[in-house]
Amino acid sequence: MATADRSTPNVDGAPGGTHTADPHRETGRAAGDPATSAATTISALVARGAGRPPTVERVVIPAPGPGQVRVAIRAAGVCHSDLSMIDGTLAPAFPLVLGHEAAGIVTELGAGVDRLSGGERVVLNWSPACRACWHCTAGRPWFCETSGRPSAARGTTADGTPLHVTLGLGALAEEVVVSQHAVIPVPAAVPFEQAALLGCAVLTGVGAVRNTARVAAGESVVVIGLGGVGLSAVLAAREAGAAQIIAVDVAAAKGSLASAAGATDFLLSDESLVRAIRERTDGRGADHAFECVGRAKTIETAWRSVRRGGGVIVVGMGGRDDVVGLGALDVFHSGRVLRSSVYGAADPDRDVPALAEEVLAGTLDIRPLITHRLALAEAPSALDRLTRGEGARSVVSFPT
Ligand SMILES: NC(=O)c1ccc[n+]([C@@H]2O[C@H](COP(=O)([O-])OP(=O)(O)OC[C@H]3O[C@@H](n4cnc5c(N)ncnc54)[C@H](O)[C@@H]3O)[C@@H](O)[C@H]2O)c1
Ligand SMILES: [Zn+2]
Ligand SMILES: [Zn+2]
Repeated sequence: MATADRSTPNVDGAPGGTHTADPHRETGRAAGDPATSAATTISALVARGAGRPPTVERVVIPAPGPGQVRVAIRAAGVCHSDLSMIDGTLAPAFPLVLGHEAAGIVTELGAGVDRLSGGERVVLNWSPACRACWHCTAGRPWFCETSGRPSAARGTTADGTPLHVTLGLGALAEEVVVSQHAVIPVPAAVPFEQAALLGCAVLTGVGAVRNTARVAAGESVVVIGLGGVGLSAVLAAREAGAAQIIAVDVAAAKGSLASAAGATDFLLSDESLVRAIRERTDGRGADHAFECVGRAKTIETAWRSVRRGGGVIVVGMGGRDDVVGLGALDVFHSGRVLRSSVYGAADPDRDVPALAEEVLAGTLDIRPLITHRLALAEAPSALDRLTRGEGARSVVSFPT
């Protein structure tokens, strides 16, 4: 396992190490608080190591401690970052419960929980802000120094081996026990499967367009990589009034998904891609390009796809050793800006409820993102589909 890299925390599955403590777990129990129940045995999608296919196992989840809540998961999306936990891109601790994009119902409150009540519909937040560190107090909770590491210790496997959960959540499971700060109430009218997507793909893709690039009406946009994240960027670009939205993927079947989300053009990612984008943007290149794959090569393509002074937003999470090559003269002459967008540069406590309202109002229609619905037992097939670039989001539903 790679050594911890504390200098780059807080990416959807940040490179490097693990942490074992929930930073939000409060100590001490307020007088008069009810005692919490016992640990529970549940089914979860567990990865035993990199390169090993995950399987559904029975695991033991602890009772909520002070400041924690238990959430019965109702729907969980399968994100590429779950695949990155097991394909060598990241180095989490194993055994590991996968999943970090989910919605459910609060079923139990630990001592001292003051911001929630039982029965609330909530979206899970994989980067809860401490509101006290340097980045949080500077208004950038997505860089919170206490959150976003790939795995955290929680519970045990059936034979008592210490278990870990993805991004402090481990949401491809019947239940999670998490900090009260890692859940965000949303209106009960938002369907669980759509609410789940607000917790990662939608917040990330929409936030990249609105918060990081600040796409304006009439601008031109390129989106490379049309999974749940890239398609969310397409949706947001349309909503922002972008005049041209050029969607790009290696899979031809993504063309219909792109147009359903509002893309004006669809191009296959091949040798002629940059030329084709320039032909569609008066020879200059687009105003913004969003890299939603997580590879150096596609970051370079995004770079060459934008005009002088344009912006490249890296949304995809690539490998530590996949190095981006840019010419020094080109960097100077192009005047382009290269930025990443971590968790949509969003404040989930503020932005998830706002997105939920847009979903309810019909102004943000995220239904086209969901292409497969499945049971937990079928979740490994969703990871296979991500490997092949098939469909958009697969959402696991849990029977009530
Ligand atoms: N910034 C964040 O905070 C954040 C949050 C969530 C996910 N992510 C990352 O965003 C990326 C996308 O996530 P997703 O769940 O949408 O993934 P996904 O696997 O569903 O989609 C990726 C898409 O990229 C396409 N693709 C692969 N190679 C390509 C190439 N060379 N050119 C063009 N398209 C190509 C695939 O066919 C697929 O459609 C991943 O790297 C994920 O880890 C980042
Ligand atoms: Zn994710
Ligand atoms: Zn913080």
